[in-house]
Amino acid sequence: MDRPGPLASESADAVAGPTEAVPPNPIQYARQGRIGVITVDYPPVNAVGHGVRSGLVAALDAGLADDGADALLLVCAGRTFMAGADIREFGKPSAPPTLPEVVARLDAATKPVIAAIHGTALGGGLEVALACHLRVALTSAKLGLPEVKLGLLPGAGGTQRLPRLVGAAKALDMILSGDPVGAEEALALGLVDAVEDGTSPLEAGLRAAERLLADGSRPQPVSARTDRIAGTDPALFTAKRAELAKRQPHLFSPHRIVDAVEAAVILPFGEGTARERELFLACMDSPQRAGLIHAFFAEREVAKVPGLPAGTPTRDIRKVGVIGAGTMGGGIAMCFANAGIPVVLVDSTQDGLERGVAAIRRNYDSTFRKGRLTAAQLDERMALIHPTLSYDELADADLVVEAAFESMEVKQAIFQTLDRTCKPGAILATNTSTLDVDAIAAATGRPQDVLGMHFFSPANVMRLLEVVRGTRTSDTVLATAMGLARRIGKVGVAVGVCYGFVGNRILHQRGRESMALVEEGASPEQVDRVLTEFGFPLGHFSMTDLAGIDVGWRIREERRKAGDPEAQSPNWLDTLAERGRYGQKTSAGVYRYEPGSRTPIPDPEVAAVIEEDRLRRGIVPRPVSDGEVRERCLYVMVNEASKILEEGIAARPVDIDAIWLHGYGFPSWHGGLLFWANREGLGKIAEAVQRYHRDIGGPQWRPSALLLQCAAEGRALGC
Ligand code: 3HC
Repeated sequence: MDRPGPLASESADAVAGPTEAVPPNPIQYARQGRIGVITVDYPPVNAVGHGVRSGLVAALDAGLADDGADALLLVCAGRTFMAGADIREFGKPSAPPTLPEVVARLDAATKPVIAAIHGTALGGGLEVALACHLRVALTSAKLGLPEVKLGLLPGAGGTQRLPRLVGAAKALDMILSGDPVGAEEALALGLVDAVEDGTSPLEAGLRAAERLLADGSRPQPVSARTDRIAGTDPALFTAKRAELAKRQPHLFSPHRIVDAVEAAVILPFGEGTARERELFLACMDSPQRAGLIHAFFAEREVAKVPGLPAGTPTRDIRKVGVIGAGTMGGGIAMCFANAGIPVVLVDSTQDGLERGVAAIRRNYDSTFRKGRLTAAQLDERMALIHPTLSYDELADADLVVEAAFESMEVKQAIFQTLDRTCKPGAILATNTSTLDVDAIAAATGRPQDVLGMHFFSPANVMRLLEVVRGTRTSDTVLATAMGLARRIGKVGVAVGVCYGFVGNRILHQRGRESMALVEEGASPEQVDRVLTEFGFPLGHFSMTDLAGIDVGWRIREERRKAGDPEAQSPNWLDTLAERGRYGQKTSAGVYRYEPGSRTPIPDPEVAAVIEEDRLRRGIVPRPVSDGEVRERCLYVMVNEASKILEEGIAARPVDIDAIWLHGYGFPSWHGGLLFWANREGLGKIAEAVQRYHRDIGGPQWRPSALLLQCAAEGRALGC
């Protein structure tokens, strides 16, 4: 290199950036032969924050002024190309140069600028590449505009340049889904000009630049192209708007994305860019943006468990055992196989084992038919799952997850066997959703190696994993399970031991309140409608039908037998279960279902069962307002969540937010249960909780001391 040197530090110091720490030299400029190389080095993901933006402008100026450079190459150090604007800067005043300014400078550069892409070119990162004159990607690269997932739209020309390269229809699909495309697809679409394999981004970029110089041509800036957008049918936008109104009625930014891409088609580039800016700023100001960005960071924050130092030693997990080949066990086995980890799947009967393996194959077959799995991948995954009746085959497993029948007796017997069979140091996990992990651990001679790994159904789909730390679980075992969660693509959240842990304990209170509302006069349809209007994908009773009414019925039966006073009197759901109305699987539950359909239809038979139940209890139904349904269903959850924090079962509000986001479909644009609660107003919630405690009573309305305290002090929960 002829003239290496850091560039951004001078300009970064001159302008006070909004981020807390600007690295000393995120941008380097150096020349290699006739190519001026601009290298972005801002770990971990080269986010385009203020230091990077000002450094890019300075490096571009240096390259344009460098007489020895005939072309400029933009390349990134580390694991990835720029992964987007620096999200941590959002909501703070933005210091110049802004990203649109940087992008405009690149677009207008008097020398050709080539972007060499590896890892992920996302959001503002891809927008920088789109403003370059040529793009070359490594085969493994992924390119996308995921702003919609943060409640935004691409705000640095992405909605204007992408359609000019790939056409308006594909651009809309990419920007509305936020999902990246691979390098080969990007090449086919015209998003990149070349794909290279088995080399570094620097080498691939230098080769592309040399080719360009040898060729002597000067690629047209994307902003000047119109060939791919000319003749776009306006019906495309009408159809998209109609589709969004149906599929994503709550979301703000998707509708603005359609407006922005339409602007690319109907307005000249400069005016389209101005329209994009307006729409971007409207999204930036929307409360949904703040909620979705909280959700983004929540997913990452939960991996850092308070009190568990970074660098805590972990154990190698190379082989896993799963006990129980039922729906849950099969799904859990798939999670490991999907991550390439061999699984020994144990069941107590040959019949159970065969049914379990057949269900796993059906599941993979359906993914294969949808084109999301190749035949080779399907075979590989099936080959990783070894079914057996013998516990002896678990002798060399590094971790075993028990997913057997929900009974303490059954589980303790299994853990005694595992303790005898498994090698020293093997981690023994239970997938119990209600039972005491400490009591299960006590059945072994190694309680430090026992913990809960609570998967959510369907286990191969749902991203949440509650990692339940028993009283005696060691740090190493907890850290191993948290690391494993990430490895298998789950959001692992560490929680303590209590009935239902965090997620189901809160769900239980919402369920209890939903039932009470129906007993008092609301209909199941009303309760569900209020919850779906809030943004839940399913209302409480639709979810009950999906999970199966018999599940709760059997748990209540167990609790009745155990003498639990709360479970003594059967409710109308028990009556439905006694009549064989188990939910979707029997085409009848709280609702009825046409064969093959999942659409709930209100059923007069259920209304009659509810009415009989009210009569039996001497309840005269009253009109219940939607506002009351909303308050009682949601505030009771907040009150319980606050008690969970008080008790230390969850360490931080963000843990509860992540649990409800990833396990129960809490609407992500609200940020999470407690992020939403803080916005709703803790004072208002505390007042209502006290009122319901006075008027309705019951342990669920006993106000959480923490909630009252935060409300009185005007603090957010967790601050
Ligand atoms: N800004 C700031 N920090 C970011 C970031 C970003 N755009 N992207 C990732 N990070 C941080 C993460 O918070 C995490 O920090 P931590 O280590 O302190 O927890 C760290 O980088 C590593 O991220 P991941 O743990 O997610 O690492 P992975 O390797 O699993 O994934 C990734 C990497 C695919 C880049 C993923 O982080 C990601 O999807 N990032 C977001 C990309 C995105 O949404 N970009 C668009 C931003 S909006 C925009 O560009 C607006 C523009 O149009 C004007």
